[in-house]
Amino acid sequence: MKTKNRQPAYPGEIAKDALEKGSQMFDWFEFDESVRKGFEEQAEQLNVYIERVIETNSHIRELPIYEKPSQQTIDKILSTGIPEEGRDSLAVGNELVKDVFEQAMLTQHPRFFSFVASAVSPYSLAGCILTDVYNLHVGGWEQAPGAGAIEENLVKWMGGLAGYTGPDVGGVFLSGASMANMSAMVAARDSRLAPEDFPSGVAYLSDQAHSSNEKGLRIIGFRQDQIVKIPTDDSFKMRVDLLEEAIRRDKQAGKRPFAVIGSLGTTNTGSIDPLEEIGRVAQEHGLWYHIDGAFGASILLSPIYRVLAKGIEASDSFSWDTHKWLMQVYSCSALIAKDKKNLLNSFTEHPEYLADVSSSEHNDAWDLGPEMSRPARAIKLWYTLQATGTTLLAEMIEYTIYNAKIVKRELAKRPNWRVVSDPSCGTINFRYEPEGLSDEELDVLTSRISQEIIGSGFAFIVTTTLMGRKTLRMCTINANTTEGDIVQTISLLDEIAAGEAQKISAARRA
Ligand SMILES: Cc1ncc(COP(=O)(O)O)c(C=O)c1O
Repeated sequence: MKTKNRQPAYPGEIAKDALEKGSQMFDWFEFDESVRKGFEEQAEQLNVYIERVIETNSHIRELPIYEKPSQQTIDKILSTGIPEEGRDSLAVGNELVKDVFEQAMLTQHPRFFSFVASAVSPYSLAGCILTDVYNLHVGGWEQAPGAGAIEENLVKWMGGLAGYTGPDVGGVFLSGASMANMSAMVAARDSRLAPEDFPSGVAYLSDQAHSSNEKGLRIIGFRQDQIVKIPTDDSFKMRVDLLEEAIRRDKQAGKRPFAVIGSLGTTNTGSIDPLEEIGRVAQEHGLWYHIDGAFGASILLSPIYRVLAKGIEASDSFSWDTHKWLMQVYSCSALIAKDKKNLLNSFTEHPEYLADVSSSEHNDAWDLGPEMSRPARAIKLWYTLQATGTTLLAEMIEYTIYNAKIVKRELAKRPNWRVVSDPSCGTINFRYEPEGLSDEELDVLTSRISQEIIGSGFAFIVTTTLMGRKTLRMCTINANTTEGDIVQTISLLDEIAAGEAQKISAARRA
């Protein structure tokens, strides 16, 4: 049927045209057959990719950490159009492996010491593949009750580790702590402020808190002047005396303090705020107390280190990224609330199209958080925990904390290295400070050391800024990292640092 050169007169005619065209061209039987064939073909291919990933992981230590795609590859991807007729799927898959998956940063590499990146458990990978293959919709309980039960079980277990007890503990798995921290602030706002008071609400967090907290507050409508950053002490922990001072000052000015966010493992240094003291202040002033445990909540598993999280039991909510220290595939983060009614109050909607599929006995995840359609994120964590057990995971956490202490030990053996932040949560910051260079020159030197070690392909270490000065930061939470990896990395850093310092001194003399 040709519609060329002829404008359909009214929408009904368009539909008629399409129907006629469809009935002539579309063969359902053939379509079903080709979908089945497609699955079979892809399953076979998937095996090839998985074998490849296993192979890569078995010799990951020898691989360069970052093989950047060439400009040509990027240009090719950017200029590839979307075809009218589909092309060979195996070719598409192979192109993706070559141009995308295998030309990216190997954040799972044992000498990748940046971000908060860890090794991935094979059980998480298996759970993730299962989740994707089955493609369950876990927006509500009824769509996949088993997945709902797993999520509920895990949320209660995670809450229990933090000392949240009782029947009201609840939460939801989200893509990451950015979403979890933001959702916590929605609950905090709604539980502590009347809508007419939103414009005068104030939230407090330390100057070391992760940017997602501030971003979340801005996304949900708070102005910058409603987000107060409390200075930290020499150990990068929130100054609780200054928190109290700020709350009193704001109250006197007629503002409405409603939330305080403590950090259980800051991104910069792994520092842990004085959680108990912050809890006392929150209670005294009636503030919602949220803890960003994205990074550090995993220490709750360790009988040795869980004491560092003391005070978390007094919070109203906390976030926990299991794709950080618990070896999970992205994205697997939990928001846990001591009283889930606060989440239900903020996130429940009753649209007519969900009336028949909402659960009358269980909480639907779409009522506990901002998402509706969502994957069964908790399954990969369940798979890992069941297959690994908590003892081994706790040992892994303790081992990786120890690795940061090895960094400190190795630095101490060599001249000119200054530890800027002591190891905490497997993170340490340090600087090379030979005599005779100015602070500005030392900043340049620090950046150069980072660039050079990254350029070497041997280890990946980037800088951050602490107290206004650049420092090198190493996060050692990858359980595949060995003492040898650390010793060799520090030795190479030392060599690079001495060479770069000489270049800067020579340039100054010239
Ligand atoms: C302490 C902390 N909070 C929040 C986040 C944000 O988490 P996500 O990247 O999962 O959104 C991070 C990320 O590194 C973090 O370290």
